[in-house]
Amino acid sequence: MELMLRNQEQILSKIATNDGHGENSAFFDGWKAYDTDPYHPTHNPNGVIQMGLAENQLSLDLVEEWVQKNQKASICTAEGANQFKDIAIYQDYHGLPQFKNAVARFMERVRGNRVRFDPDRVVMSGGATGAQETLAFCLADPGDALLVPTPYYPANDRDLTWRTRVQLVPVICESSNDFKITRDGLETAYKKAQEANIKVKGLLLNNPSNPLGTVLEREALAEALSFINEKKIHLICDEIYSATVFDEPGFVSIAEVVQEYPDCNLDLIHIVYSLSKDLGFPGFRVGIIYSYNDVVVNCARKMSSFGLVSTQTQYLLARMLSDEVFVDRFLAESSRRLASRHGLLSQGLAQMGIGSLKSSAGLYCWMDLRRLLKGPTFEAELELWRVVINDVKINVSPGASFHSSEPGWFRVCFANMDDDTMQVALTRIRKLVIQSISPEANAPRKQCRRSKLEISLSFRRLDEIMMTPHKMSPHSPMSSPLVRART
Ligand SMILES: Cc1ncc(COP(=O)(O)O)c(C=O)c1O
Repeated sequence: MELMLRNQEQILSKIATNDGHGENSAFFDGWKAYDTDPYHPTHNPNGVIQMGLAENQLSLDLVEEWVQKNQKASICTAEGANQFKDIAIYQDYHGLPQFKNAVARFMERVRGNRVRFDPDRVVMSGGATGAQETLAFCLADPGDALLVPTPYYPANDRDLTWRTRVQLVPVICESSNDFKITRDGLETAYKKAQEANIKVKGLLLNNPSNPLGTVLEREALAEALSFINEKKIHLICDEIYSATVFDEPGFVSIAEVVQEYPDCNLDLIHIVYSLSKDLGFPGFRVGIIYSYNDVVVNCARKMSSFGLVSTQTQYLLARMLSDEVFVDRFLAESSRRLASRHGLLSQGLAQMGIGSLKSSAGLYCWMDLRRLLKGPTFEAELELWRVVINDVKINVSPGASFHSSEPGWFRVCFANMDDDTMQVALTRIRKLVIQSISPEANAPRKQCRRSKLEISLSFRRLDEIMMTPHKMSPHSPMSSPLVRART
């Protein structure tokens, strides 16, 4: 591939042959490892469990039920086929009015009806991915920068920068204050960019956060508003996880906060949304740009021709999202199931002495394995990650791929599998902890000499020793070094 690419560099564009896709990272390597050896309870019980994918599959049965009962909403059923022709022909890039209305109402519903959204400001895109890129195009020129608090969603590097040639400048957030965004952090990043002669055009926030699962407090949003107004730069709020909140504190949208600050320049405010996480429809590629800036709405709408949502999908979703009884039931049940699954994982980890950041949203936990590292470096994080993927056989994503400023954090997704698979995954993680506290592993000189093969073998021995996941009590006494260090 490398050689092929080098030959192509002569004849293709610089963008097509550069690394802007970001796929040369552990984040994507983990997916590849899963793809070549996917876990299946009976066909491949020793395969890799995918915990690197933020997918919400927990409530899709409710959607399936709705689709069965509403055959008219699908134009490929006997009841709906009479609409086929009208839907299949060209539509303009404004989208179906009933779709934009339904999306605007749904976004309001998710925000507790505390805000109003104007359907005429709803612009479609191919997922939040397309929405991010369109906004970057509209707001910044090549070479300009957007500030992004760390840790952040790895594909931001591709989505906002690859084709636009905009840059991302990290705003460093640390575990010492639970990765909260501070005014100091924002000012420091802004100043650094200025010193490097980089023009900062905006701040990108992701609320609730991927990978942290935390929500931004009202005060933090107000601080961000004050910052961007003072600097006269844009604020993009990626609120793609807004309905994945399952606990207190709840979600506060930037749309609510701007209402409370009449001096805020609304031309600077833009929301990115999508149905990929809240409803669990990433395959439908429904992305939304909601901008308060008329020129951005206008331009983004023209650009949306590059990534329109299929009219068939718009038609189906217009009906589904207008069914308020369904929407209310779905949102309540989805939140309940996410809470329960999050509890299973975070408590399971806590019982083995593994901490995770306290969170109230998202489809993942931000797991703290700092004490399992050989040293406080990203090399050590990568080394541990390799053991986790190759020997423990779960794909979790290392903090480095989220631009974490501290090595040792890993994102573990929990909503893309069933309860049984989660139990198998927890058993495997428990093995990792046992392995790390075995006398062999604790003797540094010996450990240095152990080859990768030996580590694999010892995992295999553990496999033999350990019972099936269900027989192994989550309360098994275990004197993990993490427990010791914490108590
Ligand atoms: C924070 C964040 N923004 C954007 C996206 C892209 O979403 P979509 O599938 O709608 O393109 C993701 C997907 O994981 C995400 O986590």
